Amino acid sequence: MKNILEVQDVKKYFPVTKSILSFVSPRKKYYKKALDGVSLNIPEGRVSVLVGESGSGKSTLARIILRAIDPDSGSIIFNGSNITNNNGKDLWNYRKHAQMIHQDPYSSLNPLMKVFDIIKEPIDIFYKNYSNEERTNKILAVLDDVNLKPSVEFAEKYPHMLSGGERQRVAIARSLVIEPRLIIADEPVSMLDVSIRAQILQIVKQLSVSRNITVFYITHDLATSRYIGDEISVMYAGKIVESGPIDTVLSNPLHPYTQALLDAISEPKFENIDKQKVIRIKNFDSIPAESGCKFFNRCPYSMEICKKEPELERKETNHDVSCFLYEKN
Ligand SMILES: Nc1ncnc2c1ncn2[C@@H]1O[C@H](COP(=O)(O)OP(=O)(O)O)[C@@H](O)[C@H]1O
Ligand SMILES: [Mg+2]
Repeated sequence: MKNILEVQDVKKYFPVTKSILSFVSPRKKYYKKALDGVSLNIPEGRVSVLVGESGSGKSTLARIILRAIDPDSGSIIFNGSNITNNNGKDLWNYRKHAQMIHQDPYSSLNPLMKVFDIIKEPIDIFYKNYSNEERTNKILAVLDDVNLKPSVEFAEKYPHMLSGGERQRVAIARSLVIEPRLIIADEPVSMLDVSIRAQILQIVKQLSVSRNITVFYITHDLATSRYIGDEISVMYAGKIVESGPIDTVLSNPLHPYTQALLDAISEPKFENIDKQKVIRIKNFDSIPAESGCKFFNRCPYSMEICKKEPELERKETNHDVSCFLYEKN
């Protein structure tokens, strides 16, 4: 399987300005290790999920992949070439191939523009040589693809005339219309009604198959990832702790953190449906460990050796985990 994207040992530390620790030793600099050596592969034409709780570094990774911010170290390889330091024309070309769908369909669409013009904007930027007729045809076809029918009617509407789900479809159409090879969807349904989430994810999944687009689906919600994912990577405190085919990982989770995430969603309580799932583990409030395994303080199985840094290693066919429980002796 060919990888459309490879993230190699990416680090991003944000300086912390007002840390309580700065009273202890004011001259020392403190950092939030948002990404602390993240490596992952995204195979072409499939849906890869990145799951992790809020604050684990998911959006930071998305922004680095899209070159909105620079990593401190590490590389982003797209379609075989290193794009980490691309500028000018090369960066422009990359952006044509890698598009984003945002979390909030209310603030991501310009309220003063008709749907037609919202979707036309990226064509105007990236495909200047298209005729007006070509542009119109593309716009109507992509509206059909996201099931906003009749497309001629939807094209004439303004965002305020649409439901949240319809707006998110417009946002999807807008990122699709320039025919990218990779779509990064950062929590694309978390602001939508629970009842329409599956439907939107289904559309994204179908499009990835019919248009052969790779999707990187980012979520804090393991439950929705089942609708859409082929592969999954689990992130904890700026590190990937487990990855593999989604069925394998969810049916046989190896890392204690993945196991805790799965435990949390198997609790069928109605009032929990829209909440961040509660994770039943040791010392829930403890913060990630600074060195060694970051899950050390919360893990029910922590051992002396876990004060060392575990590596993400292959344990079974295509199934990787970063945990000393599986160390071969
Ligand atoms: N620009 C920034 N400056 C300082 N800290 C940041 C910045 N962006 C993110 N962070 C911190 O990095 C961590 C990871 O954030 P983020 O990537 O948004 O997580 P997620 O998307 O998984 O919720 C958080 O602790 C967040 O507060
Ligand atoms: Mg985020």
